[in-house]
Amino acid sequence: MRLVAFGVGYVGLVTGTGLSELGHDVLCVDVNAQRVADLHKGKIPIYEPGLSDLVRRNVTSKRLTFETQVDAPYNEADVYFIAVGTPPGEDGSADVSAVFAVANKIVEIAKRPALVAMKSTVPVGTCDKVQAILDNAKVRLEVVSNPEFLKEGTAVEDFFKPDRIVVGARSEEAKQKLRELYAPLQLSGDRMVITDPRSSELIKYASNTALAMRVSFMNELSRLCHATGADIHAVRSGMGSDSRIGRRFLYAGPGYGGSCFPKDVQALAMLGRSHGVEMVLAESTHRVNEAQAVFLMSLVEEGLGGNLAGRTVALWGLSFKPETDDVRESPSIKVTEALLSKGAKVVGHDPEGSANFAAHFGDRVRVTEADYDALEGADALILLTEWRSYRAPNFGEIKRRMRSSEQLPLLLDSRNIWRPQDIVKAGMRYQGIGIPPYQA
Ligand SMILES: NC(=O)c1ccc[n+]([C@@H]2O[C@H](COP(=O)([O-])OP(=O)(O)OC[C@H]3O[C@@H](n4cnc5c(N)ncnc54)[C@H](O)[C@@H]3O)[C@@H](O)[C@H]2O)c1
Repeated sequence: MRLVAFGVGYVGLVTGTGLSELGHDVLCVDVNAQRVADLHKGKIPIYEPGLSDLVRRNVTSKRLTFETQVDAPYNEADVYFIAVGTPPGEDGSADVSAVFAVANKIVEIAKRPALVAMKSTVPVGTCDKVQAILDNAKVRLEVVSNPEFLKEGTAVEDFFKPDRIVVGARSEEAKQKLRELYAPLQLSGDRMVITDPRSSELIKYASNTALAMRVSFMNELSRLCHATGADIHAVRSGMGSDSRIGRRFLYAGPGYGGSCFPKDVQALAMLGRSHGVEMVLAESTHRVNEAQAVFLMSLVEEGLGGNLAGRTVALWGLSFKPETDDVRESPSIKVTEALLSKGAKVVGHDPEGSANFAAHFGDRVRVTEADYDALEGADALILLTEWRSYRAPNFGEIKRRMRSSEQLPLLLDSRNIWRPQDIVKAGMRYQGIGIPPYQA
């Protein structure tokens, strides 16, 4: 098929590249001319494991191209994908203006009947509004909701082995066309959930909020563990061994971040409000997440004697999760803002996210290329993202690099991945999330 993807971000680039790998001719379009120029030079705008090789291969075979405009023959495409951002507006509801801009663009360019597949995460009813725009075209254009479920860090793998492909369409023809498009991803079994556009739009928000809710529940429990002396590791193990609950995605930590959970949970709450339905769980999930950042800061302050002015805090892990360079809404952003506001100096390291983090804070923070260099003279180290390279560090080296004053250096392990005894043995203090103090 001939396909066009609007938006060359995490979703558009992975989807467009994946579809070209399956044998389709794909044009990826973005309004960001710099992004497109970089892609022409072979520079991939995001870090996603396995993606750059795949882009290179498909560009070479001429099945994948990048432009800022849609020219012939792509004005006669079979499917136009909308994969542009839907960031939170002032009140937390999703800003879908870029989606409507793309819909208007498609009306302008399309020279033959086509489908318009909505990959962007949009509030229930948006596809109907997009259809009203598409009805102005000279040719028949039909919108289908086709929400994206890729996980940053494993996006390429998720594209080729999706848990499910959700399609919300009105016509049989549209359902059939998407079945055909995704057939190569269904060889080992049918993973398609076919429904109406409104249910499909809601599935996406419901899924992200359900996942975020698990995280917030564990975070709330971690605070209760801290207050009562219970151990979140044991609580997780005991809860998770019930097969109805399961152990996956059941971790306490610094709070969820990224470009999806925070905005989608709030957008669901707003969607409910605008329809007169109070989404108590979505609203609480968000509140608990905000409170976790405050809890984390209270642990740093307590560990450094109550005064952060002039203290140096090192951060390991700036991206919101491992294997991505995305720092949008990352816990590192909240923690850094709080540390700076209290007069602390912040030095960060991340295997891939340093450049985005530095671009966000400018000269208010320092980032280092080597992980241990971030520790030089630091009073505390906060581990924020559980990248593999941080899992078994040399604690002796960490101790040598950090500042030992009247207090031993503090290691705040917000992902609970280190063994407290290793840190105490190396002559430092350990603080986890919801773990009782270590006693030798
Ligand atoms: N990132 C994820 O993990 C993920 C997962 C599932 C769903 N989503 C959803 O997919 C959508 C895209 O997310 P993303 O993370 O890929 O966003 P992104 O910010 O990485 O990329 C969006 C791109 O769209 C471009 N753009 C904006 N307006 C445009 C226009 N009018 N025409 C062409 N291009 C335009 C931007 O320049 C940018 O490059 C969002 O709705 C998001 O909620 C994201």
